[in-house]
Amino acid sequence: MKSELGELLDARGLVRRFGGLTAVDRVDLHVSEGEVLGLIGPNGAGKTTLFNLLAGQLRSDEGTIRLLERDIHGLPPHRICHLGLARTFQVPRPFLSLSVFEAVLVGARFGRATPSRSPASVTRQCLARTGLSSRRDDPVRSLNLAERKRLDLARAIASNPRVLLVDEAAAGLNPAEVRETVDLLRDIREAGVGIVYVEHVMEAVLDLSDRVQVLNYGGTIAVGPPDEVMRDPRVVEAYLGRAAESADGGGTGR
Ligand SMILES: Nc1ncnc2c1ncn2[C@@H]1O[C@H](COP(=O)(O)OP(=O)(O)OP(=O)(O)O)[C@@H](O)[C@H]1O
Ligand SMILES: [Mg+2]
Repeated sequence: MKSELGELLDARGLVRRFGGLTAVDRVDLHVSEGEVLGLIGPNGAGKTTLFNLLAGQLRSDEGTIRLLERDIHGLPPHRICHLGLARTFQVPRPFLSLSVFEAVLVGARFGRATPSRSPASVTRQCLARTGLSSRRDDPVRSLNLAERKRLDLARAIASNPRVLLVDEAAAGLNPAEVRETVDLLRDIREAGVGIVYVEHVMEAVLDLSDRVQVLNYGGTIAVGPPDEVMRDPRVVEAYLGRAAESADGGGTGR
């Protein structure tokens, strides 16, 4: 099972059940150096659960996960981060009592070491890249939602990842902030990082993605170039079908 050249993350046949619900259903996912894979799908499709499997917050019931040719299945999150996979959270829950600087320093200290750079210098650079330098001494609790999302991204990139999983970085941001986030992710990709980008803000994810993978009810229903995937009748049906359910009051309400 040899990976393609430049392949960073290769997951196959992932399954995760919660009681009778199969939240992730035989999903294959791979991302290469400098590639952005957009991961989309209606609410409850299994995107965040898949991230939890890849980053070690949850164990899969079936399947394999290889990061840089190494089997990471079952490793705890801090080990996986140390090996080069970082993630952001759909709802960031930083330590509110830390300063902004300290919260990002955690990423720089416990991630994959950055050669010849001190954690403090990496932290300063990541704060500058995410526009948070002027807030460095403020407590995390004083940040608004948009700033907490940027802080979470700063913490993740401070760990010097080879693969970055981004869960809804643009949700709740205004159009200018969305553009800044897209520019930052493009910058990170330019440095060779492989990004898996979960997002409901379609302009952002379609603009950035080299490939798009669509989940619905836990399974992959389409994967390929963004324009092709968005024309796929199964994708159109998945979105319209769920929208109709929500209009009937049958959606997840999230
Ligand atoms: N810890 C859990 N226990 C039980 N069910 C869960 C758990 N986590 C997720 N689920 C269920 O698994 C399914 C997938 O949820 P998940 O959060 O992965 O979806 P998502 O694609 O990230 O959705 P959204 O776009 O709304 O964030 C949903 O039906 C959800 O209710
Ligand atoms: Mg989610």
